[in-house]
Amino acid sequence: MMPAMEQYPYIITVSSEKGGVGKTTLATNLAIFLKALHEDLPVTVFSFDNHFSVDKMFAMGSGSPRGDVADLLMETPGVELLHTGQYGVNYIPSSTALADLKGSVRSPMTLARLFSLSRIPGIVIVDTRPDLDILTENALYAADRVIIPVKDMPSLENCRNIFNLFDRRGLDKKSLTLLPCLIDSRIKYDGPFRDQKTLLKAYAINRGYRCLDTFIAKSPKVESLNTNPTGKIFPILTHARGTDVHHQYAQLGRMLLDEFTATTEPRSHLFHQWLTAEDARKKESFFARLTGLQPDCLFCGRPLVKERREHASHYFATSDDAACGLLGEECFTTFLMTAIYQMDKELPVDDPTRLIIEETARESAFAFKPAENGSGTMVEFHRFDLSGVRLGTKTYPLREFAGGILARKPDPLYTLINRTLAGYGGELRDAFLLLYPVNRETPEAVLQEESYREFNRLRKRVAEQLT
Ligand SMILES: Nc1ncnc2c1ncn2[C@@H]1O[C@H](COP(=O)(O)OP(=O)(O)OP(=O)(O)O)[C@@H](O)[C@H]1O
Ligand SMILES: [Mg+2]
Repeated sequence: MMPAMEQYPYIITVSSEKGGVGKTTLATNLAIFLKALHEDLPVTVFSFDNHFSVDKMFAMGSGSPRGDVADLLMETPGVELLHTGQYGVNYIPSSTALADLKGSVRSPMTLARLFSLSRIPGIVIVDTRPDLDILTENALYAADRVIIPVKDMPSLENCRNIFNLFDRRGLDKKSLTLLPCLIDSRIKYDGPFRDQKTLLKAYAINRGYRCLDTFIAKSPKVESLNTNPTGKIFPILTHARGTDVHHQYAQLGRMLLDEFTATTEPRSHLFHQWLTAEDARKKESFFARLTGLQPDCLFCGRPLVKERREHASHYFATSDDAACGLLGEECFTTFLMTAIYQMDKELPVDDPTRLIIEETARESAFAFKPAENGSGTMVEFHRFDLSGVRLGTKTYPLREFAGGILARKPDPLYTLINRTLAGYGGELRDAFLLLYPVNRETPEAVLQEESYREFNRLRKRVAEQLT
């Protein structure tokens, strides 16, 4: 086994939207044949269906339960869910909870990610429901090899949906292969298409679908394997010796083993590398953004990033990204009271009015945009909710000092605008300033990938409304 395959599994997905074409029979028996052909190779099988065929075939006695497919989807590492089953095959028990869980799986890439972190060695075979639901989509996306059993024209027509799905998602269709199944060898035709298998293959090729070289015949012996007094399902390997189907499964198994051996990097490994690179990229951008932050409170000059003596309430950034940083909650509330709400006296920190202002601010984004009018520089002030809906607007004159001649103090609005929007020569840049609420405990989290994207979305909506 290639080193990569010791913890990055090679995935074979068996899928078709058509019911009763032999998917589960194929998935389970293939696992047994692969294991028989290559004893050292770990082989695992599980199903997204709730028929428990996998369990009926592989369960041994009543071992202690170790979780099931639902746990896999809920992020338990796959390797911790492997049950040692009959015939040396590992399995992950089926679950009845998948219908409910499905709603929480939104991305078609979830299973690929889970496999890449699963540490499951060798080959994993995934049996799917006769349905192109989100779990099937995930199983298709994660697969190195997809086998689509077709038994007749309707099931062949149905393949189109899988191929279309790959087209829509821009995925390589190379992994998709059809396998004629449940072929009745007694049916013969005149002309070039001698039998069902040849006919199906011709139709498949005509539609641009790749077909495996082998096929699986219909056999009454195989059909009888899941009906017996024990309630178990018997495998073809041990209970249908000497049949054509036995021979065909062995052939299919050898072919897939060859493919597996020729694969140096299974998709789960590539996906893992991609995730790691993506993670590194995210961290890098986060640290780049963090180093760009102005370290001290704009109003009082106290450090906010390194030593956190005061809680930060808002992240600020200009529309041209020339300045960004954090604002301390106390300073910012005082600023809102004096400069914006123009209250003439400062309220103590526990004053109810002050607390209400603080609370409203935590749910709001604020934009400031300088504008010239005939008599001087004005600042447009806008309040937005976090989805970008504008809740209020007001214009203020921009003055360097507040108060009368005798009680001259620097005007906090002037401080805010000047420290963030002043250009090289002192004039104000053609940009706006946006203040965005942050988590008081972890204000830097706003710079992490998802939150930062959220902030940028809001900034874009605000920009559209300020022009
Ligand atoms: N080679 C075969 N010869 C005869 N019968 C077979 C063969 N393979 C599978 N069957 C039978 O066909 C029926 C359907 O098979 P299976 O359950 O594997 O199909 P499926 O595609 O998984 O169905 P579903 O879509 O309902 O999950 C079963 O009764 C099974 O025993
Ligand atoms: Mg099935």
